[in-house]
Amino acid sequence: MRPQIVPRFVRTRLRKYGRAIRLSVHRNARSQRPRRLGVLHHIAITSTKQRCGLGSELVSKFVSIGQIHSVEAFQLLTHTSNQSAKRFYLKHGWSVKDEISDNDGEEWVLMTC
Ligand SMILES: CC(C)(COP(=O)(O)OP(=O)(O)OC[C@H]1O[C@@H](n2cnc3c(N)ncnc32)[C@H](O)[C@@H]1OP(=O)(O)O)[C@@H](O)C(=O)NCCC(=O)NCCS
Repeated sequence: MRPQIVPRFVRTRLRKYGRAIRLSVHRNARSQRPRRLGVLHHIAITSTKQRCGLGSELVSKFVSIGQIHSVEAFQLLTHTSNQSAKRFYLKHGWSVKDEISDNDGEEWVLMTC
């Protein structure tokens, strides 16, 4: 519509607008990237060796190794009836995110850290 303003636009605005668009595209790409999730599936210490610190050592190493690999969040499921496991994880900084029941009617606590 007003070609006479094009040179001025190119001189004063084009680079600024281009940088803003590039930054916004980059930010969107980063925010859409799926978060890396570490899932703790099974941990069991033989009964005669429980409460000696072995479980704590395993969980803390699991989290440290995940963090080295850029894992941003960790989760696990523990059976609702397993109160000792729940206490164990709470003691290690995990928190209860949800309580769910599966298709077989089993109740689980979803914990994250
Ligand atoms: C849960 C489990 C992995 C913990 O490992 P662990 O080596 O015994 O635990 P640690 O010695 O490192 O830590 C002990 C702490 O955890 C908690 N804890 C562990 N077992 C517990 C129990 N049976 N009752 C109450 N608290 C318990 C306590 O806070 C305890 O601290 P304390 O001894 O100072 O009171 C282990 O008990 C186990 O293998 N249980 C059977 C399998 C299982 O339930 N796995 C988890 C499924 S998700």
